[in-house]
Parts: sequence; C-alpha cells; structure tokens
Amino acid sequence: MNWPEKVTIKEVGPRDGLQNEKVIIPAQSKIEWIDQLSDTGLSYIEVTSFVHPKWIPQLSDAALVAKGIKRKPGITYAALVPNQRGLESALEANIDDISVFMSSSETHNLKNINKSISDTFPILKDVIRTAANSGKTVRGYVSTVFGCPYEGEVATDQVFRVCDQLFEYGIDEVSLGDTIGVASPRQVALFLEQAVKRYDMSQIALHFHDTRGMALANILESLNYGIDTFDSSLGGLGGCPYAPGASGNVATDDLVHMLHKMGIHTGINPEKLMKAAAMVQSFLEKPLPSHQMAVNNAQ
Ligand code: HMG
Ligand code: MG
Repeated sequence: MNWPEKVTIKEVGPRDGLQNEKVIIPAQSKIEWIDQLSDTGLSYIEVTSFVHPKWIPQLSDAALVAKGIKRKPGITYAALVPNQRGLESALEANIDDISVFMSSSETHNLKNINKSISDTFPILKDVIRTAANSGKTVRGYVSTVFGCPYEGEVATDQVFRVCDQLFEYGIDEVSLGDTIGVASPRQVALFLEQAVKRYDMSQIALHFHDTRGMALANILESLNYGIDTFDSSLGGLGGCPYAPGASGNVATDDLVHMLHKMGIHTGINPEKLMKAAAMVQSFLEKPLPSHQMAVNNAQ
C-alpha cells in the first residue's frame, strides 16, 4: 500500500452533474447550493460551463450563477470552456480555473464539440494561452480515455498524444475521463504503469463515471500509482449528454467516506456534505444514487 496522506477532491456536481439532469434548477437555487458546497471544506468547485445553451440548456444561466455565488477565500472556482467565446464569458465572471475539454476518440469529440480532434487543437491552444496570460490556471479534460461509446477501446498512444499536446500548450493539470464508466482496476493499472513513466503524477487527475459501479475500485487502484486528485459529483449526480448511457460521476459523499475510512484526509466535513446533498436532492425531487444518500434517506 502506497497511498497518499491527503487527497484533493474536485467537486464537479454543479457542472457535470447538473448538465445531464432533466430538471433545470433555477439559478438562485444553484447559487444557494454552491454556497453550501463552499462551506463543506471542499477546496475546488466546478460551478458551471460556458458552452452553447442550445447544446446544454441546463447550464444556460452560467454567467448568472458564476457571478451570484459567494466566493470563499481558499476555494478555486472553475468552469468548463470550449472556445474563445466561452472564455470571454468566463473571464468576465472572474472564474479562477479554466477547464478546456476534448476527447481522445474522434467520434466522441465530433459529437461533443462538433469538431475533429485536429480542428480542436488550435482552438484550445488559443484558449489556453489567453487564459494563462489573464493569470488563470488551466485544466485540460481528456475524455473517453478508457473507452468510447462509438469506437470502443482507445489506444493509450492516442490518449498520450492528446495529453502531450495540451501540456505543450500550457495546461497545469490533465483530468483523464472514464466518460462512460467502462474502466476496470486492471485497465487502470495497465494505463497508469505507462503514464507514470511519461508524466508528473501531480499533474494528473482522474475522473471516473460510475456507470458500472467500478469507480471506487478504480480510484483505489489509482491511489497505488500516486494519484491524489479525483473529480466527483455530490450524490453521484450527472453523466455526459453526448455519451449515451453515461451515468453520474463517482459520488463525492461515497468517495469521502471511503478515503476517511482508509485514514486519508480530504479536509471535507461529511455532515456538511450530506446537508448539501440533501439540498440538491430536494431541488431535483428524486433520490440521488449515492450509497451515502441511500443510507441517509432511509433514516
Ligand atoms: P458549434 O455550433 O460548432 O459552434 O458548436 P460555432 O463555433 O460554429 O458557432 C455557432 C454559434 O454558436 C455561433 O452563434 C456562436 O457565437 C455560438 P451564431 O453566430 O450562430 O449566432 N457559440 C457560443 N455561444 C455561447 N457560448 C459559447 C459559444 N461558442 C459558440 N461558448 C460548441 C461548438 C463547442 C460551442 C458546441 O459544440 C458546444 O457548446 N458543445 C458543448 C458540449 C458539452 O458541453 N458537452 C458536455 C461537456 S464534456 C463532458 O461532459 C466530459 C467531461 O465531463 C469529462 C468526461 O467525463 O470524460 C468534461
Ligand atoms: Mg464527466
């Protein structure tokens, strides 16, 4: 066992979670919820996404939400940005960390952002440069790392090619997405054995969706390779609208529970987290899928 003492959890529920929920939560309720998340001990919250509202109507209130939340010192507030147009809005809302995104598989990239991989690179290059010149940190999401809903397995070299390019453009961290939740601990181990030889593990985060109930097992395996940053979504909200069958991210509450039981610090207060989960559950008017919420709802 070579586990880290502390893990950073990046909460993506207000973005990855809500982008795939049928119910559109009013901006004021999102603001209330994010303010409550800011009080849980989380150090990083992805609050929204500056994409085309036709593509993701659930987040069409991005500017209202980003400007309406109370910014707590010490917390990084992030947002997803696909292009210069999105970046302008994110800068105007004073987002701290800009997240660009693309896929390692051609078909998912096309369905998700309407461009080929090679046409996406110059767009993201400009966004990354402008964001960095504006004093922002930049995160690069790479999707379909462990499998694509349209193309099946994706070659590790292809994933590395996309990551290398984004690092060359100046991203500070890459978040590797198991977009459709197909990874297994063995696949994660085989992938990370290659990745540790190529990258500084402090610049790698993992982003597991829990479609097949494998996310916590995959995180456990990743910890052995020195990964100490994971994305998750409170209550297990979410999915990807351009990846059929993709269900929510690993639940923040389940991840915090596992890590604390293992003696790994997160800085997050579980009671406050459950209060925030209960709040978003009441907005959605349906039970959230996490194990912790199932226990909570039964009490
Ligand atoms: P497009 O239609 O190719 O864009 O969409 P375009 O550049 O041709 O412009 C068309 C129109 O859109 C223009 O308006 C632009 O101004 C406007 P018009 O002149 O026709 O009136 N436009 C915008 N409006 C608002 N905000 C913008 C913006 N950009 C252009 N930012 C685009 C290309 C990328 C915009 C579109 O495909 C899009 O918004 N896609 C977003 C898809 C998305 O959000 N997917 C989910 C997130 S990714 C994910 O979930 C995976 C992740 O979680 C990791 C994992 O799990 O693996 C991150
Ligand atoms: Mg995702």
